[in-house]
Amino acid sequence: MFLKELQLFHFKNHESSKFVFSEKINAITGKNGAGKTNILDAIYFLANAKSYFNNIDNQLIQFDKDFYTITGKFEDENPFDIAINFGKNTKKTIKKNGKLFKRILDHIGQIQTVFITPNDIALIYEGSEERRKFIDFTICQLDTTYLKNLIEYRKVIEQRNSFLKTVEGRFVDEILLESYNHKLIPLNHEIYETRKKFLAEFIPQFNKTYSDLSGSSEKCDIHYKSCLNDKTMTSIFESNYKIDIASQRTTEGIHKDDLEFNIHEITIKKYGSQGQIKSFIVALKIAQYEYLKSKTGKKPILLLDDIFEKIDDQRSRHLMKMVCSDHFGQIFVSDTNLQRVQEHFEDQKMQCTFIEI
Ligand SMILES: Nc1ncnc2c1ncn2[C@@H]1O[C@H](COP(=O)(O)OP(=O)(O)OP(=O)(O)O)[C@@H](O)[C@H]1O
Ligand SMILES: [Mg+2]
Repeated sequence: MFLKELQLFHFKNHESSKFVFSEKINAITGKNGAGKTNILDAIYFLANAKSYFNNIDNQLIQFDKDFYTITGKFEDENPFDIAINFGKNTKKTIKKNGKLFKRILDHIGQIQTVFITPNDIALIYEGSEERRKFIDFTICQLDTTYLKNLIEYRKVIEQRNSFLKTVEGRFVDEILLESYNHKLIPLNHEIYETRKKFLAEFIPQFNKTYSDLSGSSEKCDIHYKSCLNDKTMTSIFESNYKIDIASQRTTEGIHKDDLEFNIHEITIKKYGSQGQIKSFIVALKIAQYEYLKSKTGKKPILLLDDIFEKIDDQRSRHLMKMVCSDHFGQIFVSDTNLQRVQEHFEDQKMQCTFIEI
């Protein structure tokens, strides 16, 4: 499957644009602010029904306009098109071959994308939420039960926290608290087990990708940090009873899970160079690609935004060699430097469609 044509109307800085793509490599070049990342984001949007960068749909409408549309024609055994529409006065709709999806969620998981952008640096420097989002996004592409569990978990945690806020020095309604715990205990364990199973496959893939990419013996590790690694949720709720009431929130649970990223057994956030950090992120995303591909049997669309910044020539070449192989499908690369992209693909003897904006 690949995206053959993309049409944008009033989407961010694209007033009215149409692009025709090739099945393998597409390079989008242009100056800063030309709208390259916006094109990749529109492709991501077709698959995920939202922007990678901004969850507020109103802000995606071109300034002074009232709506945007994104339309994609996909080539497949059965070709199909996806049309997304959003207006200041109309809610977001998604149609496949002209037929409206009743719920936006029903569309998710049909088209797989892996997006690598400079913003992914947040995976390293921001709080644990970013790393949980990475895990959850990957699993949710394939597992709707997991998605439902997450939604239910968020709902019950919110209820439990609201309840804890009302206690403050007063009588504790033990039955109500117990009813929240009773719902949260199995949810915690199910989500934890699914994350653990995913990471058991994902981490070895990541290690392999990082070493292929860096071409060196740099040793990277990922550790899954969870309160459930060595305790049960029942015992956690018991021992945290007073702390939860005093702090008016649920202090432990899978909503605090995190990933520890190390290079040579030291945290990469503090000791990794910029290029090592970028390689780490690229390896995370390529491992995500491999995981999705192995589970669906389909090649996700790979979106590489400003990929050549900060990584040295040797690593860029390793990456291009990797993604140019038949193992990968359709690829989009954005860069300000046309010549640099040309050289990389000439180097791999690959045909490339250039789109200059
Ligand atoms: N709602 C909007 N209406 C109009 N323009 C917008 C809107 N949202 C974003 N933009 C503009 O789109 C422009 C292009 O952004 P984009 O990130 O795609 O550029 P780029 O080509 O990737 O640049 P760079 O090389 O710096 O990464 C920006 O100048 C931004 O201000
Ligand atoms: Mg950009």
